[in-house]
Amino acid sequence: MHAAAADDSQNVTMTFHAPGGGLKGVVSVPGDKSISHRALMFSALATGQSRIEGLLEGEDVLATAAALRAMGARIERDLDGVWHVDGVGVGGLLQPQQALDMGNSGTSTRLLMGLLASHELTATFIGDASLSKRPMGRVTEPLSRMGAEFTASPGGRLPLTMRGIVPAVPIDYRLPVASAQVKSAILLAGLNTPGITRVIEPEPTRDHSERMLLGFGADLTIARDEDGARVIAIRGEAELRPQHIVVPGDPSSAAFPLVAGLIVPGSDLTVTGVGINETRIGLVKLLSAMGGDIELLNEREEGGEPVADICVRASRLHGVENNPADVPAMVDEFPVAFIAAALAEGRSVFRGLHELRVKESDRIAVMAQGLRAIGGRVEETEDGLVIDGTGGQPLAGGGSVATHLDHRIAMSFAVAGLVSREGVTIDDMRPVATSFPGFVDLFRSLGAGA
Ligand code: S3P
Repeated sequence: MHAAAADDSQNVTMTFHAPGGGLKGVVSVPGDKSISHRALMFSALATGQSRIEGLLEGEDVLATAAALRAMGARIERDLDGVWHVDGVGVGGLLQPQQALDMGNSGTSTRLLMGLLASHELTATFIGDASLSKRPMGRVTEPLSRMGAEFTASPGGRLPLTMRGIVPAVPIDYRLPVASAQVKSAILLAGLNTPGITRVIEPEPTRDHSERMLLGFGADLTIARDEDGARVIAIRGEAELRPQHIVVPGDPSSAAFPLVAGLIVPGSDLTVTGVGINETRIGLVKLLSAMGGDIELLNEREEGGEPVADICVRASRLHGVENNPADVPAMVDEFPVAFIAAALAEGRSVFRGLHELRVKESDRIAVMAQGLRAIGGRVEETEDGLVIDGTGGQPLAGGGSVATHLDHRIAMSFAVAGLVSREGVTIDDMRPVATSFPGFVDLFRSLGAGA
C-alpha cells in the first residue's frame, strides 16, 4: 500500500500495493453503523440520559447526531469517547430551523423520516450527489399511509420536504422489498402512533431495531404468520427508558480485513469484538463455503448482540454460487465478496442482488467496471455478476477505480490492490470516512503499510 501524501485525512487518491509478506496481527474495527444510528435515535426519544460506548464516529452517524441535536436532543461525547444523550421523550422532537443535511447516509435519511412522520413538524432532507439519486418512495409510501405528507424531487428523491402528523394512523405493512431501513422507519413512526403498527417481513433483514426497542422497554412483539413471515408489532405512545449501550464492532467493516486475510498470501489475522448477529453474518458463511479458513472464537453476548473474535488465515478459495435467500444477511458485503471471487479458483455466480443497484452507487455496475479495469474477468447480469477467478494469482492491477462516492467500493478495491501486480489506484478515498475512520491505519498496522 502506498499513500500519495503523508497525512491520510488529506488523501483523495491512493494506490494500494501488495505487501511484502502476509497481513498479520490482531485488530478491532469501529462500531456497527446500523446499531450506532439506532442507539442515537432511540436514546433521543427516551426519557432521561442514555450512555453509548463504542459509537461509530463516522460521517453517517454524525449526520444522525447533528439532525437529532437540531431537533432538541442534547448529545455529547466525553473525553473517554463515551456518548451521552439526553432524550426528549417519544413525540418530543422540535421543529428543525434548517434543512437536515444527511450527507451520504441513506440510513439516517430513511430512519429519521420514519421517526418524524409521527411528529407535528416539517422537515427538509438534503444530501450529497449519491444520496440524492437514491429512491425514497419505499419509505414515503408507507409513511404517507400513516398520514405524513411528502414533497419530493422527481423520482421520489432528495431534496424532500415532509410534514409529520399527530396523531398518525397505525398500519399493517407487508414489506415489498427486503429492507431493514423500511422496516425500521415504520417501527419508528409507530412509536408515537396510537394503537398497534405492524410490519410483515417475508425475508428476514437485520433485526437491530427490534432488539434495541425491546431493550429500551417498547411494547414490541415478534410472531410468524401462516406463511412463515415475521410479524413485528409495536404499540405506540410508548415510553422508552434510557439505556447503557455497548456497540459491537461492525461486521460490514470487519469484512475488509477478513477478506484481505484470506486472499493475501501468508496472512494470519484476527478481528476482535465483531457482531455476529445471524442477520449480518452471510459473508462469513459464504467465505467458509469458498474454502476460507475462517474461525469464530470466544463467542459471547455484549449489549444484547452476539459478538466474537474472527480469525482468518490465507486460503485457497474456490468459486461459489450464492443463495439469493441469504442476500439480506450480507447485503453490504457483496463488493468485497466479489474481490474474493476474483481471486478464487473457478467461476462464482452471484444472483438476486437487485438491491445493490440502489446503494451508495450501483454496486453491480461499478464493481464490474472496476474489476475489469484491474484485470478481473467479470460479466454483469441484470441482478448480479459472474466472476471467473484467477485461482490465487494476483490480479494485473495498474488501473484506476472510480468510487462514485461509495465507501464500500473504495475499500473493496483497496483490498484488491493488496493482491495485484501493479497496484490499484482509488480515485477518491474520502467516502471511507462515512463508515470506517482509521481504515488505512488499520491495514498498515497489519503490515500493508508503505
Ligand atoms: C441498513 C440496512 C441496509 C444496509 C444499510 C444499513 C440499516 O439497507 O444496506 O447499509 O441500518 O437498516 P436496506 O434496508 O436498504 O437493505
